[in-house]
Amino acid sequence: MTSHTLNELLAEGVRGRYILVRSDLNVPLDGSTVTDDGRIKASLPVLSKLTDAGARVLVTAHLGRPKGAPRGEALPPPRSGPAGRTCRLQGHPGGDTVGSSAKEAAASLQDGEALVLENVRFDARETSKDDAERGAFADELVALTGDNGAYVDDAFGAVHRKHASVYDVATRLPSYLGDLVHTEVEVLRKLTADTQRPYVVVLGGSKVSDKLAVIDNLIGKADTILVGGGMLFTFLAAAGHKVASSLLEEDQIPVVQDYLKRASDAGTQFVVPTDVVVAEKFAADAAHETVAADAIEDSSFGAQGIGLDIGPDSAAAFASRIKGAKTVFWNGPMGVFEFEAFSAGTRAIAQALTETEAFTVVGGGDSAAAVRTLGFADDQFGHISTGGGASLEYLEGKELPGLSVLDR
Ligand code: 3PG
Repeated sequence: MTSHTLNELLAEGVRGRYILVRSDLNVPLDGSTVTDDGRIKASLPVLSKLTDAGARVLVTAHLGRPKGAPRGEALPPPRSGPAGRTCRLQGHPGGDTVGSSAKEAAASLQDGEALVLENVRFDARETSKDDAERGAFADELVALTGDNGAYVDDAFGAVHRKHASVYDVATRLPSYLGDLVHTEVEVLRKLTADTQRPYVVVLGGSKVSDKLAVIDNLIGKADTILVGGGMLFTFLAAAGHKVASSLLEEDQIPVVQDYLKRASDAGTQFVVPTDVVVAEKFAADAAHETVAADAIEDSSFGAQGIGLDIGPDSAAAFASRIKGAKTVFWNGPMGVFEFEAFSAGTRAIAQALTETEAFTVVGGGDSAAAVRTLGFADDQFGHISTGGGASLEYLEGKELPGLSVLDR
């Protein structure tokens, strides 16, 4: 990648200039409580570097997928950000991101201050498939930067989105790669070229359909793929087992069967759980028991049983594969870790990652939230990515619009 870097921008000088920074502040929420602030923390170094150098920083970010619907909250007062720096948050009763209140707030910004603009997804043009619509929104964002602005993309989690604040603004302003994006790409590159073997990939999460492209790309590259989470039931069904009322994507069974066949030809081994924790219903306090993975319907709950975690034997087998690896990539929880009774599988994988000598990468989103929720510290892992979908798409070998637009 030959993108211009943040250090190049700093060397040019930013004092008094408006610098538009795209951050990924899309944090998980429980009501209005942030349950994992990893993305916010990961975004601060670049913002601090710029404000320390005297820039007037305009931060764009999205939160959730509101599809252009305004939230209608009042403008909060300026608040004190990291190191006592003033960090204004831009809200607007109409929910606009680039309207009159945004212009006013941007105009009043002092050197060394940052302004977080309202959720860019309150404006439907942000995610439009129509280039002209996105372009018009990008023009308005760029206009906030005046005559001598620049753009920094530090939102690794969003680089797979061809959205106005990620892609189109970069075609309109001198553009630079933020340190977070740079680090993420350097780490993920180690998983795609000259990867130290054995290379073990742990895949979980609910849907196999979300992981198909990455599985396809990993066949022949990974030595072992450990399968957990809701998607394991489609693998069990592909092997001819009944899964009772567990999550099953029936239409994906032939695809999985094809993967299993191709993998054995390509030297990649899929390891599917041999035992699972089956619950009476989907609830934190549901009655549950551990059964063999090929006998899920024989649990006390019969055809009503729902598999909500991998069992202890499978967790131990997965942990032992992880301990023998040189490189491990993990994306997706093993079970419903948010419920204590079904968190043991995910906890065992996280624990194994902290104990192996391998280089370990936790793919963002749910897995990052899981390790932090379960009480692990970031520095116990080689790298915790801030990108869920973005890290998967990188590993799928897809072109990522937010990166390619910076490449020149
Ligand atoms: C993420 O949560 O993976 C990123 O913030 C991107 O969000 P999105 O999937 O809603 O585009």
